[in-house]
Amino acid sequence: MTRAENPSVLHSVASLLSKQVTTDRLLRAMIDRVVEELQAERGTLYLVDAFTGELRSRVAHLPELSEIRLARGQGVAGHVAETGEAVIVPDAKRDLHHFTGIDEATGFITRNMLCVPIRDGEGAIRGVIQLLNRKQGQFSERDRELLLGLAEQVAQALELTSFRPAGDRQRGVLIDGPFNNVVGEAPAMKALYEKVLTAATTNVTVLLRGESGTGKTLIAKAIHDNSERREGPLIHVDCTTLPAGLIESELFGHERGAFTGADRRVEGKFELANGGTLFLDEIGDLPMPLQSKLLHFLQEHSFERLGGRQTLQADVRVISATNANLEELIAAGKFRRDLYYRLRVVELQVPSLRERGPRDVLRLSQHFLDTYARRHRRRVRAISDQAMERLTSYDWPGNVRELEHCIESAVVMARGDTIEADLLSLPARAAQVASGGGYPVGTPLEQVELDHIKRTLEACNGNRTEAARMLGIGRNTLARKLKEPEGPPQTPSGQSG
Ligand SMILES: Nc1ncnc2c1ncn2[C@@H]1O[C@H](COP(=O)(O)OP(=O)(O)OP(=O)(O)O)[C@@H](O)[C@H]1O
Ligand SMILES: [Mg+2]
Repeated sequence: MTRAENPSVLHSVASLLSKQVTTDRLLRAMIDRVVEELQAERGTLYLVDAFTGELRSRVAHLPELSEIRLARGQGVAGHVAETGEAVIVPDAKRDLHHFTGIDEATGFITRNMLCVPIRDGEGAIRGVIQLLNRKQGQFSERDRELLLGLAEQVAQALELTSFRPAGDRQRGVLIDGPFNNVVGEAPAMKALYEKVLTAATTNVTVLLRGESGTGKTLIAKAIHDNSERREGPLIHVDCTTLPAGLIESELFGHERGAFTGADRRVEGKFELANGGTLFLDEIGDLPMPLQSKLLHFLQEHSFERLGGRQTLQADVRVISATNANLEELIAAGKFRRDLYYRLRVVELQVPSLRERGPRDVLRLSQHFLDTYARRHRRRVRAISDQAMERLTSYDWPGNVRELEHCIESAVVMARGDTIEADLLSLPARAAQVASGGGYPVGTPLEQVELDHIKRTLEACNGNRTEAARMLGIGRNTLARKLKEPEGPPQTPSGQSG
């Protein structure tokens, strides 16, 4: 069998990679599969810690110890990490490199072993996979080939997750956050990760707050993907883009004949989300009458379709998000206070990029650079010092989304393998200071915002799509903020958020 043939492992990894599951779950799924397929008793995945150079067990069938750490060259795994050679050890007792300390600590008896390095695209060793005790006979040459194939996939997975190769590409892996693809390790992000993991173990409603483009949608997905509902649907409803007249039927469905044109029964999003999660984005835009209906649902878990008399049940977890000031909306009589309390049983604040600081800006930049270089098949690898300086001194009103677009366009435009400062389409520093620093204390936010939007629009020669992109908001949001009538639905332009 060749290395390419291992479809079962590949498939489950690909489907997990597209989710915001924790990286540990992803790696565990890979190891579980291979342990089963190769009939081993145990498997361990070690990663080379970029800071210490030690091997640290990341995923292990190891009820007895929380972590194994091996110094360079220690044990068979340490030896494999050093030499890069894949080895079969038919008799552990007789192997010079076998480190008996682990068996002594666990009480497990290692008879034989298969151990291969995890190498990245450039051949640098990122970790080791070790299988212990084939249930029947010995590990074979074919097993070795299979495990090497899996190690290649692990290496690819690592590059696509928040476990990233260290910057110097010499040794090891940097472990950013627990979720694959959620990048960032600012203290505010670490605190958020803990809360996300806790929230994921319960069914309570979660309210995500944070500026536009900070990653609220991503975090909602992380909560769902790590909850017990992960196999169920995650249904996303944007309360802003739904026309007011349609929103009730969208959410709760309608019976045939409920209104003119309702020629058949249609299920609403609550029904579709049964067994899973309903994500209500921009909850502040939900019209009052629907707020009552939502509140009723949260209290009773039941609802009626539009035009229907039957009371229906749905088992749905509700996550909502907003960048609006709900407290102000309540004071203005536009949002129900009782609903507000129901929605925010757990409230998570997603920090702005400004609060996260320069390190996270650079980590995210590198993450998007890798992602888009791969997607657009560009050989861009690095960011020049000057470009880094510009990235970290800008204040990112559009947050991560603005940074993402900025890096993507730089990757596409880059001439060599490095992103230079002139490729970053950011407003000049002077303009930024002028627009951000010139308001007397206490200027109403709305006025500052409007002024900022108008200046950006001017800088883009009135191009609304471009201005919305720079501001990190949608075109409809821009129109709303300018109090213009909203435009027709946009044709897909390759922009995702
Ligand atoms: N921590 C992060 N790591 C990697 N990518 C991120 C992170 N945060 C946000 N992104 C990316 O930035 C973009 C914007 O994120 P997202 O859509 O989740 O923001 P949002 O807060 O929901 O914005 P809005 O308020 O406009 O709906 C997405 O492409 C998302 O994948
Ligand atoms: Mg969003």
